[in-house]
Amino acid sequence: MSAPHTPSRAPAAAVLRERGPDPVKMTLSVNGADHTFEAEPRVSLLDALRERLDMTGAKKGCDQGTCGACTVWVDGRRVLACLTLAIACEDHEVTTVEGLAEGDELHPMQSAFIEQDAFQCGYCTPGQIMSAVGLLKEGHASDDAEIREWMSGNICRCAAYPHIRAAIRAVRDQT
Ligand code: FES
Ligand code: FES
Repeated sequence: MSAPHTPSRAPAAAVLRERGPDPVKMTLSVNGADHTFEAEPRVSLLDALRERLDMTGAKKGCDQGTCGACTVWVDGRRVLACLTLAIACEDHEVTTVEGLAEGDELHPMQSAFIEQDAFQCGYCTPGQIMSAVGLLKEGHASDDAEIREWMSGNICRCAAYPHIRAAIRAVRDQT
């Protein structure tokens, strides 16, 4: 009898290994340092940062992608950490507001926020700063209308927007 037909399969190396749903070990590179911890694959990057790694710079506002308080960068691009799975960030570089300053030297955008009085309660500020630096790198700060549009995902309940825009303009005009 002839051998049954065997369907062709992708090479083993190309098959994704199934992990979870129980906690699994994962390693994230955050601000240039590797951190290994256990979490369920459904855990968001925001919860991993705040609750597993004790990095509370990224804030939890809405936890559903509408306020921008959780903004961090993945491979230099701004993302909403509450809508990003931590496990999807393995092998990528995560940057949080804790990674912006160089030792005691604040990032120019952090200094500008202080100089321009760009925060009141400060809850939105880490996300605003991560977005603001990202916006400048993206080249979306030619005028106030463009700044307003490209910062529109970051909500400030204190309405510090004019001062936030002033801080962004100040850093834009320094460089
Ligand atoms: S906490 Fe992520 S967008 Fe509000
Ligand atoms: S400074 Fe209070 S929410 Fe923005």
